[in-house]
Amino acid sequence: MDMHAAPSTVTTGPRQADKIPAELLAKIDEAVTHYPVSKRSASLPLLHLWQNHFGFVDESGVEWIAKRLDLELINILELVTFYPWFRQHQAGRISVRVCRTLSCALAGGYEVRDAFCKAAGIDPKAPMHGHVPPVSPDGKFSVEFVECLASCGSAPVALINDDLVEDITPEGTATILSQYN
Ligand code: FES
Repeated sequence: MDMHAAPSTVTTGPRQADKIPAELLAKIDEAVTHYPVSKRSASLPLLHLWQNHFGFVDESGVEWIAKRLDLELINILELVTFYPWFRQHQAGRISVRVCRTLSCALAGGYEVRDAFCKAAGIDPKAPMHGHVPPVSPDGKFSVEFVECLASCGSAPVALINDDLVEDITPEGTATILSQYN
């Protein structure tokens, strides 16, 4: 069986599974080797690799990963829908996730989130749509709240893509965003 072949389910629009680059395939193949006993344990690592590359996990991605791990589609879909980290739709190219749990909230996390929104050109009152946060008009940034990022001693903190940024002030948010192109 060709493990890299796209599943046969028909969907509309561009399918992520039809444009998997060799580099991503190599990372996926390598990740699966870490779980020789239970390939199912590779589900979350593969979802992270997929989302890191595409920015979100579309229906074809769910199908493809399930097939790659010899699982049912629901085994992957339930992970994508359960964990807020995973997205089923495109958000900003640069993802700003501001902690709102107690230490960060007390240290000004809500003000920091609003300041990030303003610096990115996003209305701070713009609502979330499911797991999809508001996105800046140029599509560059999305800003949202998340729960504790395990860096409570340096609150308030945010995760910008994979970078943990600590001790943020509202005044410093524009400078922080300017470092991301
Ligand atoms: S409360 Fe924000 S990192 Fe823990």
